[in-house]
Amino acid sequence: MCFELLDRKRLGPWLVSLLLVGLAAGGTGLGAWLPSQAAGDEPTRELPPRPLTLRGNDPLIRHALEALDRGRTIFRYDRFGSQAFFSGALGLEEILGQVTPRQALALGVKVDAESLPRPIQQAVQQGAVDLDDPAVTRLLFRYSAVVGVVTRVEGEGLADLGITCALCHSTVDDSVAPGIGRRLDGWPNRDLDVGAILALAPNVQPFVHLLGVDAETVRAVLRSWGPGRFDAHLNLDGQAFRPDGGSASVLIPPAFGLAGVNLSTYTGWGSVPYWNAFVGNLEMNGRGTFFDPRLEDPEQFPVASGVGFAREDSAQDLVTSKLADLQFYQLALAAPEPPAGSFDLDAARRGEDLFLGRAGCATCHVPPLYTEPGWNLHRPEEIGIDGFQAERSPTGRYRTTPLAGLWTHTRGGFYHDGRFDTLAEVVEHYDRVFDLELSMAEQRDLVEFLKSL
Ligand code: HEC
Ligand code: HEC
Repeated sequence: MCFELLDRKRLGPWLVSLLLVGLAAGGTGLGAWLPSQAAGDEPTRELPPRPLTLRGNDPLIRHALEALDRGRTIFRYDRFGSQAFFSGALGLEEILGQVTPRQALALGVKVDAESLPRPIQQAVQQGAVDLDDPAVTRLLFRYSAVVGVVTRVEGEGLADLGITCALCHSTVDDSVAPGIGRRLDGWPNRDLDVGAILALAPNVQPFVHLLGVDAETVRAVLRSWGPGRFDAHLNLDGQAFRPDGGSASVLIPPAFGLAGVNLSTYTGWGSVPYWNAFVGNLEMNGRGTFFDPRLEDPEQFPVASGVGFAREDSAQDLVTSKLADLQFYQLALAAPEPPAGSFDLDAARRGEDLFLGRAGCATCHVPPLYTEPGWNLHRPEEIGIDGFQAERSPTGRYRTTPLAGLWTHTRGGFYHDGRFDTLAEVVEHYDRVFDLELSMAEQRDLVEFLKSL
Protein backbone atom coordinates (compact mmCIF):
# COMPACT_ATOMS: atom_id res chain seq x y z
CA MET A 1 0.00 0.00 0.00
CA CYS A 2 1.35 3.38 -0.89
CA PHE A 3 1.29 4.87 2.58
CA GLU A 4 3.16 1.97 3.99
CA LEU A 5 5.70 2.58 1.28
CA LEU A 6 5.92 6.23 2.23
CA ASP A 7 6.50 5.20 5.81
CA ARG A 8 9.12 2.73 4.71
CA LYS A 9 10.87 5.48 2.78
CA ARG A 10 11.04 7.56 5.90
CA LEU A 11 12.70 4.61 7.56
CA GLY A 12 15.25 4.48 4.75
CA PRO A 13 18.27 5.86 6.66
CA TRP A 14 17.46 3.48 9.51
CA LEU A 15 17.53 0.56 7.10
CA VAL A 16 20.87 1.62 5.62
CA SER A 17 22.51 1.97 9.03
CA LEU A 18 21.20 -1.42 10.11
CA LEU A 19 22.44 -2.87 6.84
CA LEU A 20 25.91 -1.50 7.51
CA VAL A 21 25.83 -2.91 11.01
CA GLY A 22 24.76 -6.21 9.49
CA LEU A 23 27.61 -6.18 7.02
CA ALA A 24 30.10 -5.19 9.70
CA ALA A 25 28.85 -8.01 11.89
CA GLY A 26 29.48 -10.24 8.89
CA GLY A 27 26.38 -12.25 9.57
CA THR A 28 27.73 -13.65 12.84
CA GLY A 29 25.37 -13.43 15.77
CA LEU A 30 23.13 -10.75 14.27
CA GLY A 31 22.08 -12.89 11.31
CA ALA A 32 21.36 -15.74 13.67
CA TRP A 33 18.55 -14.01 15.58
CA LEU A 34 16.87 -12.43 12.57
CA PRO A 35 15.02 -15.40 11.13
CA SER A 36 13.42 -16.17 14.46
CA GLN A 37 12.30 -12.52 14.70
CA ALA A 38 10.75 -12.76 11.26
CA ALA A 39 9.05 -16.05 12.03
CA GLY A 40 6.44 -14.50 14.35
CA ASP A 41 2.76 -14.07 13.45
CA GLU A 42 3.00 -10.30 13.13
CA PRO A 43 1.81 -8.89 9.81
CA THR A 44 4.74 -7.82 7.62
CA ARG A 45 3.95 -4.11 8.04
CA GLU A 46 4.60 -4.37 11.76
CA LEU A 47 8.10 -5.83 11.38
CA PRO A 48 10.96 -3.48 12.17
CA PRO A 49 13.34 -2.85 9.26
CA ARG A 50 16.10 -5.41 9.39
CA PRO A 51 19.42 -6.04 7.67
CA LEU A 52 19.54 -8.33 4.68
CA THR A 53 20.35 -11.89 5.61
CA LEU A 54 21.93 -12.66 2.23
CA ARG A 55 25.55 -11.76 1.69
CA GLY A 56 27.22 -10.71 -1.53
CA ASN A 57 29.10 -13.96 -1.97
CA ASP A 58 26.05 -16.18 -1.49
CA PRO A 59 25.62 -18.38 -4.59
CA LEU A 60 21.92 -17.49 -4.56
CA ILE A 61 22.76 -13.86 -5.37
CA ARG A 62 24.97 -14.85 -8.26
CA HIS A 63 22.21 -17.08 -9.64
CA ALA A 64 19.62 -14.31 -9.27
CA LEU A 65 21.81 -11.68 -10.94
CA GLU A 66 22.66 -13.93 -13.86
CA ALA A 67 19.04 -14.92 -14.38
CA LEU A 68 17.92 -11.28 -14.25
CA ASP A 69 20.60 -10.22 -16.69
CA ARG A 70 19.71 -12.95 -19.18
CA GLY A 71 16.00 -12.32 -18.64
CA ARG A 72 16.35 -8.64 -19.42
CA THR A 73 18.26 -9.37 -22.61
CA ILE A 74 15.56 -11.83 -23.69
CA PHE A 75 12.75 -9.39 -22.85
CA ARG A 76 14.40 -6.59 -24.82
CA TYR A 77 16.11 -8.30 -27.72
CA ASP A 78 14.99 -11.92 -28.25
CA ARG A 79 12.94 -12.50 -31.39
CA PHE A 80 12.31 -16.20 -30.71
CA GLY A 81 12.67 -16.75 -34.47
CA SER A 82 9.72 -14.44 -35.21
CA GLN A 83 11.64 -12.96 -38.16
CA ALA A 84 10.48 -15.93 -40.24
CA PHE A 85 6.97 -14.51 -39.90
CA PHE A 86 7.39 -10.72 -39.76
CA SER A 87 9.93 -10.45 -42.56
CA GLY A 88 9.86 -13.87 -44.23
CA ALA A 89 6.08 -14.03 -44.54
CA LEU A 90 4.71 -10.47 -44.10
CA GLY A 91 7.64 -8.61 -45.66
CA LEU A 92 7.52 -5.89 -42.99
CA GLU A 93 11.26 -5.25 -43.27
CA GLU A 94 10.70 -3.80 -46.77
CA ILE A 95 8.44 -1.11 -45.29
CA LEU A 96 10.19 -0.41 -41.98
CA GLY A 97 13.52 0.01 -43.75
CA GLN A 98 12.00 2.89 -45.73
CA VAL A 99 9.92 4.79 -43.16
CA THR A 100 11.24 8.01 -41.69
CA PRO A 101 11.91 8.30 -37.95
CA ARG A 102 9.04 10.79 -37.76
CA GLN A 103 6.65 8.26 -39.31
CA ALA A 104 7.85 5.51 -36.98
CA LEU A 105 7.46 7.75 -33.92
CA ALA A 106 3.96 8.70 -35.09
CA LEU A 107 3.07 4.99 -35.09
CA GLY A 108 4.13 4.92 -31.44
CA VAL A 109 7.46 3.16 -31.96
CA LYS A 110 9.96 4.21 -29.25
CA VAL A 111 13.69 4.90 -29.46
CA ASP A 112 16.13 3.80 -26.75
CA ALA A 113 18.50 6.77 -26.56
CA GLU A 114 20.99 4.95 -24.35
CA SER A 115 21.95 2.50 -27.06
CA LEU A 116 23.00 5.38 -29.32
CA PRO A 117 26.53 6.84 -29.13
CA ARG A 118 26.66 10.11 -27.15
CA PRO A 119 27.25 12.41 -30.15
CA ILE A 120 24.13 11.04 -31.85
CA GLN A 121 22.10 11.43 -28.65
CA GLN A 122 23.22 15.05 -28.40
CA ALA A 123 22.47 15.72 -32.06
CA VAL A 124 18.93 14.34 -31.58
CA GLN A 125 18.48 16.49 -28.50
CA GLN A 126 19.61 19.59 -30.39
CA GLY A 127 17.26 18.84 -33.26
CA ALA A 128 20.25 18.36 -35.56
CA VAL A 129 19.15 14.94 -36.82
CA ASP A 130 16.89 14.80 -39.84
CA LEU A 131 13.81 12.92 -38.66
CA ASP A 132 12.48 12.84 -42.22
CA ASP A 133 15.34 10.74 -43.58
CA PRO A 134 14.77 6.95 -43.74
CA ALA A 135 18.54 6.47 -43.56
CA VAL A 136 18.30 7.75 -39.98
CA THR A 137 15.74 5.02 -39.21
CA ARG A 138 18.21 2.44 -40.49
CA LEU A 139 20.89 4.00 -38.33
CA LEU A 140 18.62 3.58 -35.29
CA PHE A 141 18.08 -0.05 -36.24
CA ARG A 142 21.82 -0.52 -36.64
CA TYR A 143 22.32 0.48 -32.98
CA SER A 144 19.39 -1.72 -31.84
CA ALA A 145 17.78 1.48 -30.62
CA VAL A 146 14.27 0.79 -31.93
CA VAL A 147 12.47 -0.62 -28.89
CA GLY A 148 11.14 -4.12 -29.53
CA VAL A 149 12.09 -4.39 -33.20
CA VAL A 150 15.28 -6.29 -33.95
CA THR A 151 16.68 -6.38 -37.45
CA ARG A 152 19.87 -6.56 -39.47
CA VAL A 153 20.67 -3.59 -41.70
CA GLU A 154 22.06 -4.38 -45.12
CA GLY A 155 22.93 -1.44 -47.41
CA GLU A 156 19.77 0.59 -48.14
CA GLY A 157 17.44 -1.89 -46.50
CA LEU A 158 16.81 -4.37 -43.73
CA ALA A 159 17.76 -8.02 -44.12
CA ASP A 160 15.16 -9.37 -41.73
CA LEU A 161 12.97 -8.21 -38.90
CA GLY A 162 11.52 -9.77 -35.77
CA ILE A 163 9.80 -8.42 -32.69
CA THR A 164 10.42 -8.78 -28.96
CA CYS A 165 8.34 -8.48 -25.79
CA ALA A 166 9.60 -4.91 -25.38
CA LEU A 167 7.67 -3.75 -28.46
CA CYS A 168 4.39 -3.72 -26.56
CA HIS A 169 5.54 -3.90 -22.93
CA SER A 170 8.18 -1.13 -22.84
CA THR A 171 8.17 2.55 -23.48
CA VAL A 172 10.73 5.33 -22.90
CA ASP A 173 10.86 8.35 -20.61
CA ASP A 174 11.03 10.95 -23.43
CA SER A 175 14.17 12.40 -21.81
CA VAL A 176 15.82 13.19 -25.16
CA ALA A 177 12.78 14.05 -27.26
CA PRO A 178 9.16 12.84 -27.50
CA GLY A 179 9.36 9.07 -28.04
CA ILE A 180 13.13 9.05 -27.49
CA GLY A 181 14.70 8.38 -24.09
CA ARG A 182 15.58 5.77 -21.49
CA ARG A 183 13.79 2.43 -21.59
CA LEU A 184 10.98 1.77 -19.12
CA ASP A 185 10.64 -2.02 -19.21
CA GLY A 186 7.25 -3.41 -18.27
CA TRP A 187 5.34 -0.20 -19.01
CA PRO A 188 2.66 -0.76 -21.63
CA ASN A 189 3.23 1.22 -24.81
CA ARG A 190 -0.16 2.89 -25.16
CA ASP A 191 1.04 4.95 -28.14
CA LEU A 192 2.01 1.96 -30.25
CA ASP A 193 -0.35 1.25 -33.13
CA VAL A 194 0.37 -2.46 -33.69
CA GLY A 195 -2.54 -2.85 -36.10
CA ALA A 196 -1.53 0.10 -38.27
CA ILE A 197 2.03 -1.27 -38.46
CA LEU A 198 0.88 -4.77 -39.42
CA ALA A 199 -1.51 -3.29 -41.99
CA LEU A 200 1.53 -1.74 -43.76
CA ALA A 201 2.88 -5.22 -44.54
CA PRO A 202 3.17 -5.84 -48.28
CA ASN A 203 1.78 -9.33 -47.82
CA VAL A 204 -1.06 -10.09 -45.41
CA GLN A 205 -1.74 -13.53 -46.96
CA PRO A 206 -0.83 -15.38 -43.73
CA PHE A 207 -3.78 -13.62 -42.03
CA VAL A 208 -6.00 -14.13 -45.10
CA HIS A 209 -5.22 -17.80 -45.00
CA LEU A 210 -5.68 -18.12 -41.24
CA LEU A 211 -8.90 -16.11 -40.92
CA GLY A 212 -10.51 -17.00 -44.24
CA VAL A 213 -11.27 -13.40 -45.23
CA ASP A 214 -9.83 -11.19 -48.01
CA ALA A 215 -6.78 -8.92 -47.67
CA GLU A 216 -8.88 -5.76 -47.58
CA THR A 217 -10.86 -7.08 -44.61
CA VAL A 218 -7.66 -8.11 -42.83
CA ARG A 219 -6.25 -4.59 -43.21
CA ALA A 220 -9.54 -3.00 -42.12
CA VAL A 221 -9.58 -5.13 -38.97
CA LEU A 222 -5.94 -4.32 -38.16
CA ARG A 223 -6.61 -0.59 -38.64
CA SER A 224 -9.65 -0.77 -36.37
CA TRP A 225 -7.52 -1.50 -33.27
CA GLY A 226 -5.94 1.91 -32.70
CA PRO A 227 -3.03 2.92 -30.43
CA GLY A 228 -2.11 0.86 -27.39
CA ARG A 229 -4.25 -2.08 -28.42
CA PHE A 230 -3.87 -5.62 -29.73
CA ASP A 231 -6.09 -8.66 -30.06
CA ALA A 232 -4.43 -11.85 -28.81
CA HIS A 233 -7.63 -13.84 -29.47
CA LEU A 234 -8.24 -12.97 -33.13
CA ASN A 235 -6.03 -15.82 -34.34
CA LEU A 236 -7.85 -18.22 -32.02
CA ASP A 237 -11.53 -17.46 -32.64
CA GLY A 238 -11.52 -15.12 -35.67
CA GLN A 239 -13.78 -12.60 -33.91
CA ALA A 240 -12.73 -9.09 -34.87
CA PHE A 241 -15.65 -7.12 -33.50
CA ARG A 242 -17.81 -7.15 -30.42
CA PRO A 243 -21.56 -7.74 -30.80
CA ASP A 244 -22.07 -3.95 -30.39
CA GLY A 245 -19.74 -3.33 -33.36
CA GLY A 246 -16.78 -2.10 -31.31
CA SER A 247 -13.26 -3.48 -31.81
CA ALA A 248 -12.61 -6.82 -30.11
CA SER A 249 -9.05 -5.71 -29.31
CA VAL A 250 -7.88 -5.00 -25.76
CA LEU A 251 -5.49 -2.51 -24.16
CA ILE A 252 -1.85 -3.56 -23.82
CA PRO A 253 -1.41 -4.18 -20.07
CA PRO A 254 1.73 -3.58 -18.00
CA ALA A 255 4.16 -6.48 -17.63
CA PHE A 256 5.36 -5.16 -14.26
CA GLY A 257 3.95 -5.72 -10.78
CA LEU A 258 3.03 -9.35 -11.44
CA ALA A 259 5.05 -11.02 -8.66
CA GLY A 260 2.59 -12.67 -6.28
CA VAL A 261 -0.24 -12.47 -8.82
CA ASN A 262 -1.75 -15.86 -9.64
CA LEU A 263 -3.45 -15.76 -13.04
CA SER A 264 -2.38 -13.39 -15.78
CA THR A 265 -4.16 -11.74 -18.70
CA TYR A 266 -7.48 -9.94 -18.47
CA THR A 267 -9.29 -13.26 -18.57
CA GLY A 268 -6.86 -15.36 -16.54
CA TRP A 269 -5.51 -17.74 -19.18
CA GLY A 270 -2.74 -18.93 -16.88
CA SER A 271 0.43 -18.00 -15.00
CA VAL A 272 3.13 -15.65 -16.27
CA PRO A 273 5.27 -18.49 -17.75
CA TYR A 274 2.13 -20.03 -19.29
CA TRP A 275 1.33 -16.79 -21.06
CA ASN A 276 4.93 -16.14 -22.05
CA ALA A 277 5.05 -19.51 -23.82
CA PHE A 278 1.67 -18.76 -25.42
CA VAL A 279 2.83 -15.37 -26.69
CA GLY A 280 6.26 -16.53 -27.85
CA ASN A 281 4.69 -19.27 -29.95
CA LEU A 282 1.22 -18.16 -30.98
CA GLU A 283 1.34 -14.35 -31.02
CA MET A 284 4.92 -13.49 -31.93
CA ASN A 285 5.04 -16.51 -34.20
CA GLY A 286 8.34 -17.59 -32.73
CA ARG A 287 9.67 -21.12 -33.03
CA GLY A 288 9.06 -23.23 -29.97
CA THR A 289 7.04 -25.83 -28.16
CA PHE A 290 3.62 -25.15 -26.68
CA PHE A 291 0.87 -27.32 -25.27
CA ASP A 292 -2.69 -26.37 -24.33
CA PRO A 293 -5.46 -28.84 -25.19
CA ARG A 294 -8.05 -26.20 -24.29
CA LEU A 295 -7.40 -24.79 -27.77
CA GLU A 296 -8.76 -27.98 -29.35
CA ASP A 297 -12.36 -26.86 -28.70
CA PRO A 298 -13.73 -26.20 -32.22
CA GLU A 299 -16.67 -24.13 -30.97
CA GLN A 300 -14.75 -21.67 -28.86
CA PHE A 301 -11.58 -21.68 -30.96
CA PRO A 302 -12.55 -22.44 -34.55
CA VAL A 303 -9.32 -20.97 -35.94
CA ALA A 304 -6.86 -22.31 -33.35
CA SER A 305 -8.34 -25.81 -33.35
CA GLY A 306 -8.31 -25.89 -37.15
CA VAL A 307 -4.60 -25.12 -37.42
CA GLY A 308 -3.50 -27.17 -34.41
CA PHE A 309 -2.35 -24.39 -32.04
CA ALA A 310 -3.00 -26.78 -29.13
CA ARG A 311 0.34 -28.38 -29.81
CA GLU A 312 3.20 -26.43 -31.33
CA ASP A 313 6.30 -28.43 -32.01
CA SER A 314 8.89 -26.54 -34.01
CA ALA A 315 11.89 -28.55 -35.15
CA GLN A 316 14.08 -25.95 -33.50
CA ASP A 317 12.85 -24.66 -30.12
CA LEU A 318 13.88 -21.02 -29.59
CA VAL A 319 11.38 -20.30 -26.80
CA THR A 320 11.39 -22.94 -24.05
CA SER A 321 14.99 -22.40 -22.90
CA LYS A 322 14.19 -18.68 -22.35
CA LEU A 323 11.08 -19.09 -20.18
CA ALA A 324 12.77 -19.38 -16.78
CA ASP A 325 14.96 -16.28 -17.14
CA LEU A 326 12.15 -14.31 -18.75
CA GLN A 327 9.81 -15.05 -15.84
CA PHE A 328 12.53 -14.21 -13.33
CA TYR A 329 13.04 -10.82 -14.96
CA GLN A 330 9.35 -10.03 -15.27
CA LEU A 331 8.69 -10.83 -11.64
CA ALA A 332 11.52 -8.48 -10.68
CA LEU A 333 9.84 -5.58 -12.48
CA ALA A 334 8.12 -3.74 -9.65
CA ALA A 335 5.24 -1.39 -10.35
CA PRO A 336 6.71 2.13 -10.39
CA GLU A 337 5.60 4.57 -7.72
CA PRO A 338 3.73 7.72 -8.71
CA PRO A 339 5.72 10.96 -8.93
CA ALA A 340 5.51 13.25 -5.93
CA GLY A 341 2.69 15.73 -6.23
CA SER A 342 0.75 13.69 -8.81
CA PHE A 343 -2.12 13.12 -6.36
CA ASP A 344 -3.68 14.77 -3.33
CA LEU A 345 -2.27 12.97 -0.29
CA ASP A 346 -5.09 13.82 2.14
CA ALA A 347 -7.78 12.87 -0.33
CA ALA A 348 -5.90 9.65 -1.10
CA ARG A 349 -5.80 8.73 2.60
CA ARG A 350 -9.57 9.21 2.82
CA GLY A 351 -9.93 7.24 -0.43
CA GLU A 352 -7.86 4.42 1.04
CA ASP A 353 -10.28 4.12 3.96
CA LEU A 354 -13.18 3.84 1.53
CA PHE A 355 -11.29 1.34 -0.64
CA LEU A 356 -10.55 -0.89 2.35
CA GLY A 357 -13.92 -0.32 4.00
CA ARG A 358 -17.29 0.89 2.83
CA ALA A 359 -16.67 0.73 -0.94
CA GLY A 360 -15.67 -2.94 -0.68
CA CYS A 361 -12.91 -2.66 -3.30
CA ALA A 362 -10.37 -4.58 -1.22
CA THR A 363 -12.57 -7.68 -1.10
CA CYS A 364 -11.23 -8.32 -4.62
CA HIS A 365 -8.29 -5.90 -4.97
CA VAL A 366 -6.51 -7.16 -1.82
CA PRO A 367 -3.54 -4.96 -0.88
CA PRO A 368 -0.65 -4.95 -1.47
CA LEU A 369 -1.20 -7.16 -4.55
CA TYR A 370 -4.52 -5.48 -5.39
CA THR A 371 -5.80 -8.77 -6.77
CA GLU A 372 -6.95 -11.85 -4.84
CA PRO A 373 -4.31 -14.04 -3.30
CA GLY A 374 -5.49 -17.36 -4.75
CA TRP A 375 -7.99 -17.74 -7.57
CA ASN A 376 -8.46 -14.21 -8.86
CA LEU A 377 -11.30 -14.60 -11.38
CA HIS A 378 -14.87 -13.29 -11.52
CA ARG A 379 -17.95 -13.82 -13.60
CA PRO A 380 -18.81 -10.77 -15.72
CA GLU A 381 -21.99 -10.02 -13.78
CA GLU A 382 -20.00 -9.74 -10.55
CA ILE A 383 -18.43 -6.55 -11.87
CA GLY A 384 -21.46 -5.46 -13.85
CA ILE A 385 -20.15 -5.82 -17.41
CA ASP A 386 -20.85 -7.97 -20.49
CA GLY A 387 -19.15 -11.33 -20.97
CA PHE A 388 -17.88 -10.93 -24.54
CA GLN A 389 -14.17 -10.96 -23.77
CA ALA A 390 -14.46 -13.42 -20.85
CA GLU A 391 -16.15 -15.93 -23.13
CA ARG A 392 -13.21 -15.78 -25.53
CA SER A 393 -11.08 -17.36 -22.79
CA PRO A 394 -11.31 -20.92 -21.45
CA THR A 395 -12.07 -19.44 -18.01
CA GLY A 396 -15.20 -17.49 -19.04
CA ARG A 397 -14.16 -14.94 -16.42
CA TYR A 398 -12.34 -11.68 -15.81
CA ARG A 399 -9.21 -11.53 -13.68
CA THR A 400 -9.08 -8.88 -10.92
CA THR A 401 -6.58 -6.38 -12.31
CA PRO A 402 -3.59 -5.68 -10.02
CA LEU A 403 -3.79 -1.92 -9.59
CA ALA A 404 -0.26 -0.86 -8.60
CA GLY A 405 1.28 1.52 -11.14
CA LEU A 406 -2.12 2.52 -12.59
CA TRP A 407 -0.78 6.04 -13.12
CA THR A 408 1.62 4.78 -15.84
CA HIS A 409 -1.17 3.80 -18.21
CA THR A 410 -4.02 6.27 -18.19
CA ARG A 411 -3.97 6.64 -21.97
CA GLY A 412 -6.55 4.46 -23.72
CA GLY A 413 -8.89 4.13 -20.76
CA PHE A 414 -9.59 1.47 -18.15
CA TYR A 415 -10.95 -2.09 -17.99
CA HIS A 416 -9.70 -4.60 -20.56
CA ASP A 417 -11.18 -2.78 -23.55
CA GLY A 418 -10.75 0.79 -22.29
CA ARG A 419 -14.53 1.24 -21.94
CA PHE A 420 -14.08 3.79 -19.16
CA ASP A 421 -12.14 6.87 -20.24
CA THR A 422 -11.23 7.98 -16.74
CA LEU A 423 -10.81 6.57 -13.24
CA ALA A 424 -13.78 8.74 -12.21
CA GLU A 425 -15.93 6.76 -14.64
CA VAL A 426 -14.63 3.47 -13.21
CA VAL A 427 -15.59 4.56 -9.69
CA GLU A 428 -18.97 5.82 -10.89
CA HIS A 429 -19.55 2.40 -12.49
CA TYR A 430 -18.83 0.59 -9.21
CA ASP A 431 -20.96 3.09 -7.31
CA ARG A 432 -23.89 2.20 -9.56
CA VAL A 433 -23.32 -1.58 -9.79
CA PHE A 434 -22.68 -2.09 -6.09
CA ASP A 435 -25.16 0.55 -4.89
CA LEU A 436 -22.45 2.19 -2.84
CA GLU A 437 -24.11 5.61 -2.56
CA LEU A 438 -20.78 7.38 -2.49
CA SER A 439 -20.93 11.16 -2.52
CA MET A 440 -19.13 13.02 -5.30
CA ALA A 441 -16.41 13.98 -2.80
CA GLU A 442 -15.98 10.35 -1.76
CA GLN A 443 -15.72 9.27 -5.39
CA ARG A 444 -13.02 11.89 -5.94
CA ASP A 445 -11.15 10.60 -2.86
CA LEU A 446 -11.22 7.07 -4.26
CA VAL A 447 -9.80 8.34 -7.54
CA GLU A 448 -6.96 10.11 -5.68
CA PHE A 449 -6.20 6.84 -3.91
CA LEU A 450 -6.11 4.95 -7.22
CA LYS A 451 -3.67 7.57 -8.56
CA SER A 452 -1.43 6.96 -5.54
CA LEU A 453 -0.94 3.24 -6.19
C1 HEC B 1 2.00 -7.14 -30.04
C2 HEC B 1 2.01 -6.69 -28.67
C3 HEC B 1 2.51 -7.65 -27.61
C4 HEC B 1 3.71 -8.33 -27.59
C5 HEC B 1 4.80 -8.34 -28.64
C6 HEC B 1 3.74 -9.03 -26.34
N1 HEC B 1 2.60 -8.78 -25.62
FE1 HEC B 1 2.22 -9.39 -23.75
N2 HEC B 1 0.33 -8.69 -23.90
C7 HEC B 1 -0.18 -7.98 -24.96
C8 HEC B 1 -1.60 -7.82 -24.78
C9 HEC B 1 -2.57 -7.08 -25.67
C10 HEC B 1 -1.94 -8.51 -23.58
C11 HEC B 1 -3.34 -8.69 -22.97
C12 HEC B 1 -3.88 -10.01 -23.49
C13 HEC B 1 -5.25 -10.33 -22.96
O1 HEC B 1 -5.43 -10.31 -21.75
O2 HEC B 1 -6.12 -10.60 -23.79
C14 HEC B 1 -0.68 -9.01 -23.05
C15 HEC B 1 -0.57 -9.67 -21.83
C16 HEC B 1 0.63 -10.01 -21.26
C17 HEC B 1 0.79 -10.46 -19.89
C18 HEC B 1 -0.28 -10.55 -18.84
C19 HEC B 1 -0.31 -9.28 -18.02
C20 HEC B 1 -1.27 -9.35 -16.87
O3 HEC B 1 -1.74 -8.30 -16.44
O4 HEC B 1 -1.54 -10.43 -16.39
C21 HEC B 1 2.11 -10.76 -19.74
C22 HEC B 1 2.77 -11.31 -18.48
C23 HEC B 1 2.76 -10.51 -21.00
N3 HEC B 1 1.84 -10.05 -21.89
C24 HEC B 1 4.09 -10.74 -21.25
C25 HEC B 1 4.65 -10.70 -22.52
C26 HEC B 1 5.95 -11.22 -22.85
C27 HEC B 1 6.92 -11.86 -21.87
C28 HEC B 1 6.14 -11.02 -24.16
C29 HEC B 1 7.29 -11.50 -25.01
C30 HEC B 1 7.47 -12.94 -24.99
C31 HEC B 1 4.94 -10.32 -24.66
N4 HEC B 1 4.06 -10.19 -23.64
C32 HEC B 1 4.79 -9.86 -25.94
C33 HEC B 1 0.57 -7.49 -26.02
C34 HEC B 1 1.82 -7.96 -26.37
C1 HEC C 1 -15.91 -8.48 -7.42
C2 HEC C 1 -14.50 -8.13 -7.47
C3 HEC C 1 -14.17 -6.65 -7.62
C4 HEC C 1 -14.51 -5.61 -6.80
C5 HEC C 1 -15.36 -5.65 -5.54
C6 HEC C 1 -13.88 -4.44 -7.34
N1 HEC C 1 -13.18 -4.76 -8.47
FE1 HEC C 1 -12.10 -3.48 -9.58
N2 HEC C 1 -11.80 -4.95 -10.96
C7 HEC C 1 -12.25 -6.24 -10.86
C8 HEC C 1 -12.04 -6.94 -12.10
C9 HEC C 1 -12.40 -8.38 -12.39
C10 HEC C 1 -11.46 -6.00 -12.98
C11 HEC C 1 -11.08 -6.21 -14.45
C12 HEC C 1 -12.19 -5.64 -15.34
C13 HEC C 1 -11.85 -5.60 -16.81
O1 HEC C 1 -10.67 -5.48 -17.16
O2 HEC C 1 -12.77 -5.64 -17.62
C14 HEC C 1 -11.33 -4.76 -12.23
C15 HEC C 1 -10.77 -3.59 -12.72
C16 HEC C 1 -10.59 -2.43 -12.00
C17 HEC C 1 -9.94 -1.25 -12.47
C18 HEC C 1 -9.34 -1.05 -13.86
C19 HEC C 1 -7.84 -1.30 -13.89
C20 HEC C 1 -7.26 -1.12 -15.27
O3 HEC C 1 -6.02 -1.11 -15.37
O4 HEC C 1 -7.99 -1.00 -16.26
C21 HEC C 1 -9.95 -0.33 -11.46
C22 HEC C 1 -9.34 1.07 -11.49
C23 HEC C 1 -10.66 -0.92 -10.37
N3 HEC C 1 -11.04 -2.20 -10.72
C24 HEC C 1 -10.91 -0.29 -9.16
C25 HEC C 1 -11.83 -0.76 -8.24
C26 HEC C 1 -12.40 0.02 -7.17
C27 HEC C 1 -12.06 1.48 -6.89
C28 HEC C 1 -13.28 -0.78 -6.52
C29 HEC C 1 -14.19 -0.42 -5.37
C30 HEC C 1 -15.13 0.65 -5.65
C31 HEC C 1 -13.25 -2.07 -7.18
N4 HEC C 1 -12.37 -2.02 -8.22
C32 HEC C 1 -13.99 -3.18 -6.78
C33 HEC C 1 -12.81 -6.82 -9.73
C34 HEC C 1 -13.34 -6.10 -8.68
